[in-house]
Amino acid sequence: MRILITGKSGQLARALLARLPGAVGVGRPEVDIADAASVQVALDAHRPELVIHCAAMTDVDGAARDPQAAYRANGLGTQTVALAAERVGAALVYLSTNEVFDGNQRTPYTEFDPPSPINPYGWSKRAGEWFVQNLTRRFYLVRTSWITGRGGRNFVHRILQLADEHGRLRVVTDEIACPTFVDDLAEALVRLIATGHYGIYHLTNAGYCSRYDYALKILELSGRSHIPVEPITLAEFPRPSTPPKFSALANNAAAALGITLRPWEVALAEFLQKA
Ligand SMILES: NC(=O)c1ccc[n+]([C@@H]2O[C@H](COP(=O)([O-])OP(=O)(O)OC[C@H]3O[C@@H](n4cnc5c(N)ncnc54)[C@H](OP(=O)(O)O)[C@@H]3O)[C@@H](O)[C@H]2O)c1
Repeated sequence: MRILITGKSGQLARALLARLPGAVGVGRPEVDIADAASVQVALDAHRPELVIHCAAMTDVDGAARDPQAAYRANGLGTQTVALAAERVGAALVYLSTNEVFDGNQRTPYTEFDPPSPINPYGWSKRAGEWFVQNLTRRFYLVRTSWITGRGGRNFVHRILQLADEHGRLRVVTDEIACPTFVDDLAEALVRLIATGHYGIYHLTNAGYCSRYDYALKILELSGRSHIPVEPITLAEFPRPSTPPKFSALANNAAAALGITLRPWEVALAEFLQKA
């Protein structure tokens, strides 16, 4: 199958390109999803049968500071990709986020719980979902959360860096979601696109935790258990964006197809071992 992947230097795109020989990655400056002409030129040149749309403005606090920039990249950019994919007859994979949910639930969100974002990043990604659902006929809408890939901008690298720089940490206890490791996510996506079962999916590593518990595990498994971690609340950690408090994702739809991801602790241990 001819596959084109947007945002080629991002964490997930790199993992997918490594697994999908023959897939073409496109990215800035040549292909900017905010520039419809550049997207159309790329799709006309490669004539993909499937577009995996990974490009996004993923800086959640940046999105809160500049909601219009987030909407241009994640909302309008996805509209552009969806229209171009439909025009060349390609199916579409759109990566979305746990942050489309408001976080008020106490059990993991299923694929069919109603999204209700509470911050500009979530609004912009939800807008992208709407365009995908309304402008394309064959799509996989895949929500995931807390992605970690080697060398990417992610929580694991940040915790290790802050631990080594400061020798102590303060981490929130009241933000809870599913850590997800990019190799497991890419593998699950490759299996999903082979099924032809278009639809809405949640793909995360199994289990969920607070950022505080996640940090403790990162320190333990990286030989840094001696680093003290002060538990704090979101209220004590002011930041531009308001994250949903509980946004764990139930992976029901993929499990029904036999696609499951291993527990996050196992994936984290392997990630740190290879670091
Ligand atoms: N990271 C997470 O924790 C997380 C959680 C849930 C969902 N997701 C979703 O999963 C997908 C992949 O995430 P990721 O962690 O792999 O992201 P990432 O590492 O931040 O990479 C995003 C890529 O998008 C590119 N990009 C941004 N704006 C663009 C534009 N206007 N035109 C073209 N490319 C643009 C960036 O390009 P430059 O290199 O040029 O900046 C970057 O390479 C995204 O859709 C994200 O919303 C991510």
